[in-house]
Amino acid sequence: MALRLTDVSYTYSIGAAGSGINVGTSTDKSTSAGTSRCRGTDKGKGTGVGKGTGGAQAVTALQGVSLSVEPGEMVLIAGATGSGKSTLLRLAAGLLECGSGQITLDGEALTPGLARGRVGLVFQDPESQLFAETLAEDVAFGPKNLGVAPDKAIALAHDVLKRVGLDPKQYAGRSPFSLSGGEARRAAIAGVLALAPDYLLADEPTVGLDSYGRARVRRVLDETRRSAGVLVVSHQLEEFLAKADRVVILAQGVIAWQGSSDEALSDPQLFLGNGLVPPEILEVQQLLIRRGLPLDGISLDPGVAATGVAAALESAGTRTDTNADASMNMDAGAGANTDAITDMIAIADGR
Ligand SMILES: Nc1ncnc2c1ncn2[C@@H]1O[C@H](COP(=O)(O)OP(=O)(O)OP(=O)(O)O)[C@@H](O)[C@H]1O
Ligand SMILES: [Mg+2]
Repeated sequence: MALRLTDVSYTYSIGAAGSGINVGTSTDKSTSAGTSRCRGTDKGKGTGVGKGTGGAQAVTALQGVSLSVEPGEMVLIAGATGSGKSTLLRLAAGLLECGSGQITLDGEALTPGLARGRVGLVFQDPESQLFAETLAEDVAFGPKNLGVAPDKAIALAHDVLKRVGLDPKQYAGRSPFSLSGGEARRAAIAGVLALAPDYLLADEPTVGLDSYGRARVRRVLDETRRSAGVLVVSHQLEEFLAKADRVVILAQGVIAWQGSSDEALSDPQLFLGNGLVPPEILEVQQLLIRRGLPLDGISLDPGVAATGVAAALESAGTRTDTNADASMNMDAGAGANTDAITDMIAIADGR
């Protein structure tokens, strides 16, 4: 049981006027309406832009990508802008057909029909997913399309709206187009959750949300992982790094690195080396280790990190008033802030 990509490549062809292939549809609640099948080929070598025939250009967005996600797993896909993350999700959702390689869903070759209702994609641009007159109808559209009775689909819509933190009493009757950016993102997530897919693919699901909304989305994806495989794309590494089982880093269309979250946390060059900014709380602990503080492990949880740093300072016999100040900065939840970093580096330097 897995959603699996094997040696997958994808090339966009851009017309002379510069318009790319249009992917996805505004009413696509289940991925079944993937009208834009890949016209790409695997002729381009390497990634980037190349000239095709008749003035058309070819952009190789992915090259030789192999990865899988199983039910019960959360896999984080990170990578600099333009590295191919959204293309990968569209391919995995059956919205694009790969130029070469193979994509299988629980062992069968992926087709839009097979993906229908079983693979759900939350688009990077949530507004493109909303279309109905009311939010409840919008969220209920997918289940209805899969044959759920209308009243049951509406009840389900209310339920998932609640789960993403949009109180149906307040939101169910609202026009999806009246929503703020953060509300629209959560509404789009609700629309996909309503399908109860076996595999949930989410493209930057926390962008534009406040801390309450981000926490809510993290929790919902974590809950979803209990019954489904979750493939999440995020620039904000701190959002999902701690929760993910595995991390895949894309760079210019190829997999630059793939491993467990723990391995990712302990590699000090991994993120910066691939055009990503590591979470500050991670950076400060890596700096401390580099400067000789014997930390037992690295944590993205400010409380755990603070305890670990304080213990390491104590065991190294360097706990002074300054150290205590630094620990307080960490304890206060400021783990990632500049004060804490400066204090920690000062301590490590003073050793
Ligand atoms: N519809 C399209 N037509 C032509 N080229 C495209 C199209 N969509 C993406 N590309 C190109 O494919 C490459 C990968 O794009 P993709 O959207 O997958 O990147 P991404 O990693 O999701 O970036 P971001 O972090 O900015 O969302 C880029 O070079 C991009 O310009
Ligand atoms: Mg993208």
